[in-house]
Amino acid sequence: MDETENIPEIPGVDPYNTKVTPYQEISISEIPSGSIIDIGAGGEGVIAQIGRERITAIDKLQAEIDEAKDKSPEAKWMVADALNLPFENEEFDNATSFFCGMYMSNEDKKKAIKEIYRVISPGGEFWIWDSKINTEKERFIIVLTISLPGREKFNTGYGTKNTFQNEDIYKEYLEEVGFAIEEIKVDKYWFFIKAKK
Ligand SMILES: C[S@@+](CC[C@H](N)C(=O)[O-])C[C@H]1O[C@@H](n2cnc3c(N)ncnc32)[C@H](O)[C@@H]1O
Repeated sequence: MDETENIPEIPGVDPYNTKVTPYQEISISEIPSGSIIDIGAGGEGVIAQIGRERITAIDKLQAEIDEAKDKSPEAKWMVADALNLPFENEEFDNATSFFCGMYMSNEDKKKAIKEIYRVISPGGEFWIWDSKINTEKERFIIVLTISLPGREKFNTGYGTKNTFQNEDIYKEYLEEVGFAIEEIKVDKYWFFIKAKK
């Protein structure tokens, strides 16, 4: 462990078997234009809070949608699986994924990226924010302080049993299905990728 890191204590979480990150500041000032499909959209519903009625917000769990819905009721909330999206080809202008891939196996990440590619228009963009994970512990929790336009900063945490993923895996899978990488920003515990169809 990096001794200089100030790790938050989370009730019920044993730091012996869980890698907990220090607070990571994420500020989102912009999302793609037009209609957006946001996968794994529940929980905080971050993208829906910014894009409102422009967002089709899908999550495979109703409970996660219920948690997020009140924060942006104008979004189109729907239970759906990102691996098999119930939408036509090229139905959306653009797509987003905010800390959803960290809950998927690598095979499922590939399937979801293929599906996103199918449902967005040619020239459409897919913006991904996700965790950079490399731990020998059993679980990983990224702790975030999020700033969104017009809202007070808030804290949240996203935990997973997956113990390894990084931007290179996503880059490889995105390029495999035909996306061109437009931008990659890498921080110690998370990354941002903008890819174009
Ligand atoms: C970290 S949580 C929520 C992050 C969310 N984007 C936010 O703004 O707070 C990730 C979500 O991805 C969802 N998820 C995982 N695999 C999925 C899949 N195959 N299809 C749809 N949603 C999925 C989970 O149910 C969970 O709600």
